[in-house]
Order: sequence, then structure tokens, then C-alpha cells
Amino acid sequence: MGGRPGDGWSAPKASEPAGFLKAGPNSWHLCQPPCLTQFIVRKNILMRVVSGIQPTGKPHLGNYLGAIVNYVKLQDEAAEAGGECLIFLADLHAISMPHNPAELHAATLEMVATLVACGVDPAKTILFNQAQVPAHAELQWLLNGTARMGWLNRMTQFKDKSGKNREGASIALFTYPVLQAADVLLYQATHVPVGDDQKQHLELARDIAQKFNNDFATEDAPVFTLPDPYIPPAAARIMSLRDGAAKMSKSDPSEMSRVNLIDDADTIMKKVKKAKTDPEPLPSEEAGLAGRPEAINLVSIYGALTGRDTASVLAEFGGQGFGTFKPALGEVLVETLAPISAQFRELMQDREALDAILARGAAKARERGGPTLEATYKALGLVRG
Ligand code: TYM
Repeated sequence: MGGRPGDGWSAPKASEPAGFLKAGPNSWHLCQPPCLTQFIVRKNILMRVVSGIQPTGKPHLGNYLGAIVNYVKLQDEAAEAGGECLIFLADLHAISMPHNPAELHAATLEMVATLVACGVDPAKTILFNQAQVPAHAELQWLLNGTARMGWLNRMTQFKDKSGKNREGASIALFTYPVLQAADVLLYQATHVPVGDDQKQHLELARDIAQKFNNDFATEDAPVFTLPDPYIPPAAARIMSLRDGAAKMSKSDPSEMSRVNLIDDADTIMKKVKKAKTDPEPLPSEEAGLAGRPEAINLVSIYGALTGRDTASVLAEFGGQGFGTFKPALGEVLVETLAPISAQFRELMQDREALDAILARGAAKARERGGPTLEATYKALGLVRG
């Protein structure tokens, strides 16, 4: 796999689920067995974009450049390809760590507002929260029979998040990647826009799908599509502003480590000016960035925000110190984020409208996921009335 929309990508046979719509030479026809899902496949090209974000803490620049900008890009590409885009708030994942219920509730609405402010359009994207679509949790249980302990034991996120207190970690934190697999397999996702830190979880989702298809389906009529991660080449891992070796993260105790999408202009400028750097000026060539993680991070952020590659940023700023580069970066950040925070504040005035977006999206998601859930029960031999 690995192709991309626009470059002749087509779903390989092994990952085609049962009931595929396919275009014949001059017409469309329904493959046997009868269609279980509502795929729209044009000339053998199927595009179903699915991704999630946890409504915990404030969304930051890493979430934006690593994932959200691609939600927005792919929602249009999916529509052009006759496919669909589903983006959800991973509230069921959020309870895998200690949390405050009132804060989770508030953060869920804030996350809808943030995504819409960033350009996720509920008219184009099915936007919802997992808790309103019980099929996610149901499919997770069905996949628990396929996922292997050894696979989950290798997940680095569990090791990172449980730290030294593995015995005290929740079971949900350990089985979290199976829920994540259910999230995407439920909708026969083809493209999953994520940052680099989610790559391992997506590989696990593919392993689970492959094993389930091998064990309970036939090659001609697999139950699940193998999802492909869609990771931005340049901004896959935005690092902390305080430590070029640590990922920018909602859970970092230092507010100065990240730029939040709804930070005001003064705060953004302050955080960028205080960002950790080395004393050397920026090099003119990329090779000169070797061993300078903080410089690489800031240059990558500038490049990702302006749509330029590292060479072009260094061609402009090479030889100049951070005293010049940081204000330039701060300005680009403020220019990008000011309209997002303005729209966020406006959207937050109307809580009912935000609830309605989630309710509408969830109704559609329940409909889209139903056939795959039923096919999974059936493949496992479970009796369903
Ligand atoms: P979450 O909520 O931690 O992050 C949401 C998205 O932002 C990306 N991201 C980053 N990208 C670049 N640099 C960073 N510093 C950075 N920090 C976060 C993440 O890679 C992610 O794409 N487990 C997921 C949520 C999830 C999900 C799914 C994602 C649940 N089910 C199914 C995809 C498909 C998570 O905790 O993301």
C-alpha cells in the first residue's frame, strides 16, 4: 500500500472488504456478496478518511501541524474522490488516564469548536464524539479476541504514559490501542491522518485487521480494510519549545513548552521568544542543522506554517541569529492562529450549536459503522436475532 490520492492510488485486493462497489469498464456494479457497507468506490479508488483527537487539555501547534491541517486537506480530497471523511473526539480514550468529568465535558465542546475553527467543516466531514457511537466500544470487545498480549506489550505509548507505575495504570490504558483499531476499522478507513507518534498504533490496527481477515474471512471477502497512516513529511513530530528532544504535548506540565491554538498574540510571542535555542546563528545549508534539535524544530515549524521546505527557509535566514528569526516565526504563528482563536471564541458562544454538530455527526457515524459491526458479529459466529 502506501499510495496517495492523486497518484493513482487504489485499494489492494487483500484489503478490500466484502460488498465493495466497483466500477466496471463503463459502469458500476455491486460485487458479491451483497454490499455490507456504504463505500463509494470510483474506478476502483476508495477513500475513507478517519481520525481522532483526544479532548483533553488544550489543542496545540503539534496537533494542528501534525494532524488537523491534514483533516482539512483530506476532507476536500475525499469529497473529490467521491469518498468521505470522519473525524471524532476520542472521549472514550480520554478516560484511560485519571480525569475530571466536568473538565472532560467542557474540553469536548471546546475541541469541536477548535476543529471547526481550524477548517473542519461539519457540512463536509462527519464530526462526532465516540461516546455517542457505541459501536466503537462494541467492536473493541470483538477485536479483543484477535489482539495479542505480546502486540500490546510492545506499545511505547503505554510504557511512556504508565511510567514507573505500571501496576497502577488502568486496564483501559493498556487496551487503548485495540479501541483505536476499532475506531478506524469500524469505518473501513483507508487514510488515517496522524502525527508520527500514532504510527505504531496504526500498525497494530493493520495487524489486527489482517489477523481477523485471515482467521474469520476469506481473501475475496475480507471483513476489514487495512488502514494507511497519512503522516505529514515535514511536521510529523513537533517538539517542545523547552526541549528539542521531547514531543510537544498537552500533558507537559510547562505551558511554555507549547503554543496552544487559542493563545493570544502576546502569549505566542512570549513563548517563541523564550523558546530554548543554541547560541549559533542559523546555517545556510541543511547540513548545518545537524545536532541542533531546537533549531531544527523552529525551522520546521516556520516551514510548515509557510508551506516552504527547510532549504528555502535557510536560504532566507541563514547567517542570522535567533534574535531575528524568533520574531519572524512569532509573526507567522500569530497570523495563522489569530483567525482560529477569533472563530473559536465566536463558536463557543453557542453551546447548543456545538452539541447539534456532534449529535448530527454521531447519527451519521452510527449508520456508517453499522454494517461492519454486523459483519464482524457474523464472521465470529455470534447469534444476533
Ligand atoms: P492525540 O489527541 O494525542 O493527538 C491528536 C493528533 O495530533 C497528533 N500530534 C502531533 N503531531 C505532531 N507533533 C506533535 N507534537 C503531536 N502531538 C500530537 C497525533 O499524532 C494525533 O494525530 N490516540 C490518538 C487519538 C485517536 C486516534 C484514533 C487517532 C484515538 N483513536 C484513531 C487516529 C485514529 C491520540 O491520543 O491523539
